[in-house]
Amino acid sequence: MADDLLVATGVEVTYGGRASILGAGRPGNKVLHGTDIRIGRGETVGIVGESGSGKTTLGRALLRLIDVSAGRILFDGRDITRLPDRDMRPLRRRMQMIFQDPMASLNPRHSIRRILAEPLFLHGLASDRRQAEGLLREMLDRVSLPAVVLERNPHELSGGQRQRIGIARAALLRPDFVLADEIVSGLDVSTQAQVLNLLKGLSREMGLSMAFISHDLSVIRAVCDRVYVLRLGKIVEHGPCQQVFSAPRSAYTKVLLDAIPLPEIDPSWLTRSSVSEDAV
Ligand SMILES: Nc1ncnc2c1ncn2[C@@H]1O[C@H](COP(=O)(O)OP(=O)(O)O)[C@@H](O)[C@H]1O
Ligand SMILES: [Mg+2]
Repeated sequence: MADDLLVATGVEVTYGGRASILGAGRPGNKVLHGTDIRIGRGETVGIVGESGSGKTTLGRALLRLIDVSAGRILFDGRDITRLPDRDMRPLRRRMQMIFQDPMASLNPRHSIRRILAEPLFLHGLASDRRQAEGLLREMLDRVSLPAVVLERNPHELSGGQRQRIGIARAALLRPDFVLADEIVSGLDVSTQAQVLNLLKGLSREMGLSMAFISHDLSVIRAVCDRVYVLRLGKIVEHGPCQQVFSAPRSAYTKVLLDAIPLPEIDPSWLTRSSVSEDAV
């Protein structure tokens, strides 16, 4: 469809396989078996499945962070399946990722100022310190963090604050597409709701397309327009959240739905929570 930003067809990923000039080589462990997924402009698509079902692998393949052994990936109409690094580089700014564990993705020895400013210079979005500082302060304000966090190191912030920094870092680069992989998994429920609300608001303002990975259907339901259910590297069901959650077609989706703790599936859960986190 013309309105799709990212389209993947027949994607296969095999870990540890090795081609050999002597013969068949080593088969490796195939974890994605011909996956099709499309993400429209401005759309948030959920990818849900149990641990080990291949969600992270699929996300990383979409961003071309790992190679696919078969299939095709189109980004903004362009085939990026085998695009060399040199040609991927200009696209990198447009495809950002927010990680599950911001402690692992934020350099612990760097100040938040440096963590946020470096990518701006790298991608040519700021030409001097003053301009960068202005952009940082504006973004911190948007993610509801005080400017004093700029002097802090990642470990001095709470989990929720670190995740806001992860979001700020991605949003500062004005991407078209954001992959969010289990970004609220380590947080308590009220902090989860705040982080999800923030991301939802930002994605709407910026017209972002998002792939939102979670093992938790209640999180998916709170933020996604459509959802793909992944099982053992295969999409077993997909459709608008409303439809998949109210009338799941696959037995597997039903099992996932049954596993949701009841209080969390309350649809007003996301909008209701307004408890703010501790000040810095
Ligand atoms: N770097 C890797 N090397 C080898 N196997 C991997 C690697 N990453 C993931 N796997 C395997 O691929 C399968 C899918 O993993 P993953 O994509 O992380 O699933 P999920 O994110 O749904 O938990 C698992 O069986 C996992 O053990
Ligand atoms: Mg994962």
